[in-house]
Amino acid sequence: MSSPAASGAASGSGTGKVIVLGEHAVVHGEPAIVLGLSRGVRVTLVSAVPESPGGQPESAPERALAKAAQVLGVPAPKGVVVRVEGDLPVAVGLGSSAALSVATVRALAAHVGLSPSDDDVAGFANEIERLFHGTPSGVDATAAAHGGLRWFEAGPPRRHEPVAAPAPLPLVVALSGSRHDTGRSVLGLRDRARAAREIYAPVFSAIGALVRAGRTAIEAGDAPRLGEILTMNHGLLRACGVSTPELDRLVDVALREGALGAKLTGAGGGGAAIALASGEPGELAERLSRSGWESFPVA
Ligand code: PMV
Repeated sequence: MSSPAASGAASGSGTGKVIVLGEHAVVHGEPAIVLGLSRGVRVTLVSAVPESPGGQPESAPERALAKAAQVLGVPAPKGVVVRVEGDLPVAVGLGSSAALSVATVRALAAHVGLSPSDDDVAGFANEIERLFHGTPSGVDATAAAHGGLRWFEAGPPRRHEPVAAPAPLPLVVALSGSRHDTGRSVLGLRDRARAAREIYAPVFSAIGALVRAGRTAIEAGDAPRLGEILTMNHGLLRACGVSTPELDRLVDVALREGALGAKLTGAGGGGAAIALASGEPGELAERLSRSGWESFPVA
């Protein structure tokens, strides 16, 4: 995915993602299932003449590049401009910061002539993610580096593997209209869980059980069962205090519009939801868009 260009530019890309099942609980030791999107981020390091001025990196891409140099153990590149392109909505739970981190690692690796494996890229990118999110589980960086439909366990040891679906999941992404802050959402839930372990631990275990049952439903091509599991996962996330009235409304509208199931995706507190279409995902996306929620199919 990385390519040194003849002009002295080097680039790399990272894919966006939706968490199909298991967000938040994955931080607390449960598995998650994640799906790479066709949308993503591309970073190109373009030689700048005259040399760009030094000083502290300020923008997110500049900070990501400085951190990428640190984790790759190479000097921070001088005289380059970071060009970021992509079609991924930002700060709505679709993995834009992980995609940026992965793309930056790949671009810098290409710039210095390194070829890290996808797993190494994910590990480096997860270090960069700490700049943005504090203590990420690694699920976003893994999805951004590998793409596809994946089972993920944070570990240690970190473990992930492809999930084989007999057909692409007809999922639709719908935006609730507000941004979210992953770090704040994760830390808030961590504090609540610490203060009342006996209440939250069984909920995280129940989410883990849904993720396992969800994998079985996906592998069997049992869409109605998967839909039921998605909606149940939303209910538990809501119980954990990470949903919003808009996300709850969005889930209700999706179900009313014929979705087999729906849930918030990512950290919640705003951001996006996913809905499982019973037929063509494009049609469900259109119906949701007509109801006022910007939506698009995952593929
Ligand atoms: O950054 P988001 O919104 O995609 O959320 C990441 C998923 C969480 O489980 C909430 C956090 C994590 O690090 O796994």
